[in-house]
Amino acid sequence: MHKIKTAVLISGRGSNMMAILKATQNNDYPAKLNIVISNKPSAEGLKKAEEFGIKTVVLDHKTYKNRHEFEKDLDTHLRSANIQIVCCAGFMRILSPWFVERWKGKVLNIHPSLLPKYKGLNTHKRAIESGDTIHGCSVHFINSELDSGKIVLQKSIEILSDDTPQSLSERLLIKELEAYPQALKKIANELIHSKQLNKSN
Ligand code: GRF
Repeated sequence: MHKIKTAVLISGRGSNMMAILKATQNNDYPAKLNIVISNKPSAEGLKKAEEFGIKTVVLDHKTYKNRHEFEKDLDTHLRSANIQIVCCAGFMRILSPWFVERWKGKVLNIHPSLLPKYKGLNTHKRAIESGDTIHGCSVHFINSELDSGKIVLQKSIEILSDDTPQSLSERLLIKELEAYPQALKKIANELIHSKQLNKSN
């Protein structure tokens, strides 16, 4: 079975990355996790990926003279691994229009809100403070505007009257870990089918 070569970009804990990794271990899953790249040398997710024998790379953004130099290196690593889909998972760097254009339609992100609500940070606190009764997460394509690309999949949970930003984020994470592997599966299958169509035309 042909599998889509995938990279996951992280900055921290890496629980979404692990959910993707576990899904890719299934024989029928249409994507393979080829590389995990972190912009933070201390990201806990790096060790977890290594334990599973996944190639990891650290590109410490602080050591680059500007965003473009960092992204040029990121681009080189992705291209040399023949990556077809990039999944940002808790990756705390904004990608520039240059990178987004180069990887157009190939970069996914997970955001902890029901987009288009609450783009940016502190989504759980903002949802509670707005008196919302439903919260959720969105897997979406990245485009040149923050948290604004086409939505692939959303999952929602109820906000309970005694929820704090912490309790809400913990409950939502369970949904995120289901959502990202499902969204990647959908996009990878679409890519496989479009390649098969191109071949037969
Ligand atoms: C997730 O809640 C994700 O939605 C947000 O950052 C968190 C990353 O967690 N963008 P992890 O690194 O996947 O554990």
